[in-house]
Amino acid sequence: MSRPETSAVSITDFRPLARRRLPKVVFDYLDGGAEGEFTLRENCRAFEDVTFRPRHAVAVPRCDLRTSVLGFNLSLPLLLAPVGYSRLMNPQGELAAARAAGAAGTAYILSTISGHRMEDVKAATSGPAWYQLYLMGGRGAAEAAIERARVAGFSALVVTIDTNVAGMRERDFRNGMKEMLGNSLVAKIPFLSQFLTRPRWLTGFLLDGGVPKLPNIVIPGQGPMPLIDVSAALASAAVTWEDMRWIRDLWTGPIIIKGVLTGEDARRALDEGASAIVVSNHGGRQLDCVPASLTALPEVVEAVKGRAEVLMDGGIRRGGDIVKAICLGARAVLIGRAYAYGLAAAGQAGVSRAIEILRTDLERTLKLLGCASIADLDGSFVNISANWPARKRFTAASP
Ligand code: GLV
Repeated sequence: MSRPETSAVSITDFRPLARRRLPKVVFDYLDGGAEGEFTLRENCRAFEDVTFRPRHAVAVPRCDLRTSVLGFNLSLPLLLAPVGYSRLMNPQGELAAARAAGAAGTAYILSTISGHRMEDVKAATSGPAWYQLYLMGGRGAAEAAIERARVAGFSALVVTIDTNVAGMRERDFRNGMKEMLGNSLVAKIPFLSQFLTRPRWLTGFLLDGGVPKLPNIVIPGQGPMPLIDVSAALASAAVTWEDMRWIRDLWTGPIIIKGVLTGEDARRALDEGASAIVVSNHGGRQLDCVPASLTALPEVVEAVKGRAEVLMDGGIRRGGDIVKAICLGARAVLIGRAYAYGLAAAGQAGVSRAIEILRTDLERTLKLLGCASIADLDGSFVNISANWPARKRFTAASP
């Protein structure tokens, strides 16, 4: 039987492989979104609203996929997004993803909700590592994490602003994600059958010591926070604009604000000193029925007016999606599920294969477009559906 990472032809091939490897409760945490999952679906679907305008009969023997984000040179215009609970998906979790990112010549963003020590994650990658900050555990824990991230060599801080409460992830409630992560052994009994039908995952989980702690959230006087479910975690993670002041005083490097969907928030993020903005709806996991990130991108690009780099995440499954986002003004994209399915299916090899699939997609798409480099992409390579109401409304309302 071929190994999962070699049999996957596209990113979507990794999803069933991940489903086969993970217990339902873990798979659904990764795969699911908030409420009716409208935004989750829209994130992918919106790419169909953008079609290409290729330049044919142009020889493109080689393509230059390189770019830079905040001055960091990347071999291709994608970064690995912060993915919480990666260590539950694979025992190597964040270490495996960071290694794969470095090997591919790109950056890895470590989530606060991570199971491996940030120092080990930084040491695992040869590429840039950025730290994503939630205020879980309180300001003292966040201050300690910021200082540790600085000493460990993380080169940018990513502040997520769309989590003042967790989205209603119905699958997690139905599956009992909270009980599965809790301390009670009795509460874990209902999960036995799904664990036993996933022996490879179960073996890895048990050899890894079971439910990990959160070693990057060290509460002063108490030690590392135990792993808690995402609702409880995010409810205590809210960041407000007021917090940006003390965060900026502590972190002198670049700050990236993630979770911007409107021109107004983009301008506020710039006022608060953001060096870059990530247009994101948290992978459809927070407020359902917000627009797809791709649809929100033009409004943010227009508001930013080149004063900061604009990144986006949400729904990327193909290199062509990345090209579309860049044509609409993104500097680069973050991928989340696109690599996490690979991580769950085959560890580091799965992440590397996912990145490789996107790299070859990118190269082929550029060649078919008649465009020799990422730097040459612009709006002239795409048509946008006339049905993008948010964009039209924004344009009409803009001065
Ligand atoms: C973690 O950040 C999550 O949204 O699940």
